Amino acid sequence: MSRSQAMVDALDLLYRALYQGVLARLPEPVAIAIGQWGLRHLPLDRLRIFSNPDPRLAITLGGVRLPNPLILSSMYYDTAILARAMGLGWGAVTAKSITPGPRPGHPEPNLVRIQTAEGPGLVNCNGFKNPGLEAYRVALARLPHRVPLIVAAAGESAEDYVRVVEGLQEFGDLVELNISSPNTKLVYGWSTRPHELKDVFRAVRAATAKPIIVKISPDFRETNEEITIPAALDAGITIVNYGNTRRVEEPRLSQRSGGLSGPALFATTLENVRRVRARFGDRLELIATGGIDRPEYARRALEAGATACGIFTGFITRGPLLPRRILYALQPAGK
Ligand SMILES: Cc1cc2nc3c(=O)[nH]c(=O)nc-3n(C[C@H](O)[C@H](O)[C@H](O)COP(=O)(O)O)c2cc1C
Repeated sequence: MSRSQAMVDALDLLYRALYQGVLARLPEPVAIAIGQWGLRHLPLDRLRIFSNPDPRLAITLGGVRLPNPLILSSMYYDTAILARAMGLGWGAVTAKSITPGPRPGHPEPNLVRIQTAEGPGLVNCNGFKNPGLEAYRVALARLPHRVPLIVAAAGESAEDYVRVVEGLQEFGDLVELNISSPNTKLVYGWSTRPHELKDVFRAVRAATAKPIIVKISPDFRETNEEITIPAALDAGITIVNYGNTRRVEEPRLSQRSGGLSGPALFATTLENVRRVRARFGDRLELIATGGIDRPEYARRALEAGATACGIFTGFITRGPLLPRRILYALQPAGK
């Protein structure tokens, strides 16, 4: 084991002790505030352990070079956090889904922890809290890209998606269409009227030359594979992110239901990747998202046919060293 790998393991143990001993015991809003303060203000990305990625791990996604196949999944809109995350070993970073106008999101409690048989997870009903297109354009204009940035759009109509994509595309290397978050009717409803998606896909495809990713829900397997993915391919969209959180009842949340994330999703994520790869072959590039919170899961998702892995909850529960630990495990022998 190299010295920097030993350092990563030591810091990782430290974070686990901090998470289990302190953060996981605090009320969620306090723990979130502390975690986000840390990401904004602690210059973790200056630690040498985060630099020098092995060039053999680089991939291309929609023709864009990523230094490695790990993508921070959509959740943060604060550009100070996105800038920091870009230096923590991710191959790309996704910004939060943005709607045409600002949204306050759902009232608290809108995020709770959950302990599942597979490990620690979250349930959220965030409700697309975001500053809206115009304010976010101003914020993104000041964000330097150390790794590719994926900008993300959410909406209720083809016009909404086109407006957001047209407004954000110049700031992103790729563009993600969120048609799958479960905690607002706004977006979850798309999978119940999937035939309308072909117009959304065509309109957005015509609105940008950037590579487009469609992010789908693990709750609508048949619709996804019979209607949504074929419609995306017909429109010339060839990257699928499978997928978002799974809708569950959760009486602790203000909306009484929300999106489950974390390792309880992994078995389904893996099956989805295998099936979609077998069915659509090389016509698609596939991002496996849902439950990847340890090196072994990332390796299995890539072996099952994923082009890249999306991760959010593991970054919180396992800590900022997770991408670095996964990269060590993925590194081909001989270095
Ligand atoms: C608090 C929270 C907010 C999220 N916000 C978004 C969002 O704005 N857009 C989106 O596409 N996904 C959003 N997600 C879903 C994640 O990007 C990811 O798809 C999901 O959590 C499953 O991956 P994981 O198990 O690695 O967390 C959010 C997840 C959480 C926990």
